[in-house]
Amino acid sequence: MSKSSGTIYDDTRERVGPRADKSPVLEAREVSKSFRQGPVLLDVLCGAALSVAAGERVAIVGASGSGKTTLLQILGGLDRPTRGQVLVDGRDIHQLTERERGELRNRAIGFVYQFHHLLPEFSALENVAMPLLVRRAPVAEARKAARELLERVGLGQRLEHRPHQLSGGERQRAAVARALVTQPKIILADEPTGNLDGANAESVFGLMLELNRERATSLVVVTHDIRLADRMDRVYEIEKGRLSERLTPPLRRGESYTGT
Ligand SMILES: Nc1ncnc2c1ncn2[C@@H]1O[C@H](COP(=O)(O)OP(=O)(O)OP(=O)(O)O)[C@@H](O)[C@H]1O
Ligand SMILES: [Mg+2]
Repeated sequence: MSKSSGTIYDDTRERVGPRADKSPVLEAREVSKSFRQGPVLLDVLCGAALSVAAGERVAIVGASGSGKTTLLQILGGLDRPTRGQVLVDGRDIHQLTERERGELRNRAIGFVYQFHHLLPEFSALENVAMPLLVRRAPVAEARKAARELLERVGLGQRLEHRPHQLSGGERQRAAVARALVTQPKIILADEPTGNLDGANAESVFGLMLELNRERATSLVVVTHDIRLADRMDRVYEIEKGRLSERLTPPLRRGESYTGT
């Protein structure tokens, strides 16, 4: 299965823009964000537009401080844009009430961060089950789903480990499992391998790509690593507040990106 879907993705990678056969699961329209610091207004994003189709893999690259995290937070409904719209599964997430926004986030989006953000006092199993328990799923069902996903990410022998008893790579795998346990349509990942050494980064990133193929979950990954970005379907770059799509994957242009 993964071989054949790999072929499909390799074929579609050459296309420009989201695949025509699928409506976007995530869309940003003319998103701007300014921060006011005393008398100074800092324009971080100016009219950013982005569209992600179901199952698509998109990278966002840019220098440190260019606004990647800000954009991801706005896409996930965790921060408000100064102007513009973000449609998650067709709904304008910033027009919803706090409660509705939380529900849409919990249902449709999984987050993976550079730092795992697992809760230290809970086991791997409890951490991964947590998003289901938050939506009031029965405990037995939540634990079963968490166990299956931890087995899938190679942590079947680590279910009762606390985060401090896991290695860095294992913690990120658990964080990936936690993001996927609700079967979200979209994973938003901010430098998910930024804290890992080369081999671990490769293994966690490879796992995310495999799970994206298996589950047709869209993947939006902020990364400094151009080799990782190059393995996605499309690459957006933020520069001087502007978001633009790179029509030719960077490595194929013989470029090495040195964001930070
Ligand atoms: N809450 C805030 N108040 C004021 N300025 C902010 C705030 N959040 C971010 N900024 C500024 O916005 C700019 C973009 O920050 P952001 O964290 O999005 O960058 P980034 O591209 O993710 O950088 P990095 O690669 O270092 O993580 C930075 O100059 C930052 O100082
Ligand atoms: Mg950042």
